[in-house]
Amino acid sequence: MATPTAGGFKPRVFSGMQPTHTLHLGNYLGALVRWVEMQKTHDCIYCVVDMHAITTAQDPADLTRSIREVAAAYIAAGIDPRGSILFNQSQVAEHAELAWVFNCVARLGWLNRMTQFKEKAGKDRENASIGLYDYPVLMAADILAYKATHVPVGEDQKQHLELTRDIAQKFNNDYAARIAERGFGEQYFPLTEPVIGGPAARVMSLRDGSKKMSKSDPSDYSRINLTDDADAIAQKIRKAKTDPDALPSEEKGLETRPEADNLVGIYAALKSVTKQQALDEIGGRQFSAFKSALVDLAVEKLGPITSEMRRLLADPAEIDRILADGASRARGIAAPIMREVREIVGFVGGC
Ligand code: TYM
Repeated sequence: MATPTAGGFKPRVFSGMQPTHTLHLGNYLGALVRWVEMQKTHDCIYCVVDMHAITTAQDPADLTRSIREVAAAYIAAGIDPRGSILFNQSQVAEHAELAWVFNCVARLGWLNRMTQFKEKAGKDRENASIGLYDYPVLMAADILAYKATHVPVGEDQKQHLELTRDIAQKFNNDYAARIAERGFGEQYFPLTEPVIGGPAARVMSLRDGSKKMSKSDPSDYSRINLTDDADAIAQKIRKAKTDPDALPSEEKGLETRPEADNLVGIYAALKSVTKQQALDEIGGRQFSAFKSALVDLAVEKLGPITSEMRRLLADPAEIDRILADGASRARGIAAPIMREVREIVGFVGGC
């Protein structure tokens, strides 16, 4: 088991994904693979963040389906719901309650700097929901409701995790006297560490090496979904954008070749090796030969996940049972923390 972190906090992992879409290769390689690994060394809590999902309009029936599908993807990829805690966010009210307290700690100027809000709201900023703007504060509450110390995510979440640290720090400072007086230690919340890295921390679109692989890209050929069958995977990889040159044998040779860099990163991540180790094997090959090897590898790694997801989704009641069990275990951790937060803030009442 991992050793205690700075500040003496028990190491604990928290992460989540939005059920707004079928998970894609970016979600899988950027985050989920690492979640599975971290189960070996940490207590882990993995959440389907359905309250984040409704920051943009969702059809209710699709949302229900998507929550179960994302839970099935977690399990199919190797999350063990008996060891780790797996649940959906809306079932643990402490997330929303702590988010309100944090709304009163976070500053407008901090949220105004969030690049993801700017990207998602686009030109129609005035028409974006307040929830979309406040999204990173709820994210901080997700993490700190469990005093999580480590958060494995893709690179696009880095700024949100910096905000989580700023909120924790400001709460610790604003209430320092009260925290000490009540005997809750020197710092109430940990300064959570992001766990970001590896060859696929930012998987790019298969159609454009300068754009992130994303659920919102209108072209389905830009991404590989965890529900794609072998034929779809093969077609998407064969159509993936490339350049005319053979693969380099040194990583440096990828620097000015975003599409090649992306495909090599995907290959390396699927093989659990570094980009350089991948190039030691495939450097010098033409794209046609490399793409065939990549198709075989992707089908070999993703095929079993897709079929396991299908098997799990045939029994939605079992998925609901797993989520309910996870929510009750999650509440067991978050409720006492929230009780202390109420006391620190100065609220009256015995709940
Ligand atoms: P979401 O649902 O957009 O993405 C889920 C995870 O997948 C990673 N990811 C990628 N990684 C590499 N390459 C890509 N192209 C790519 N696209 C997505 C994301 O970095 C993320 O790790 N805000 C979060 C959900 C969230 C959360 C949390 C995460 C809510 N509360 C608390 C951690 C802790 C999000 O929208 O992820």
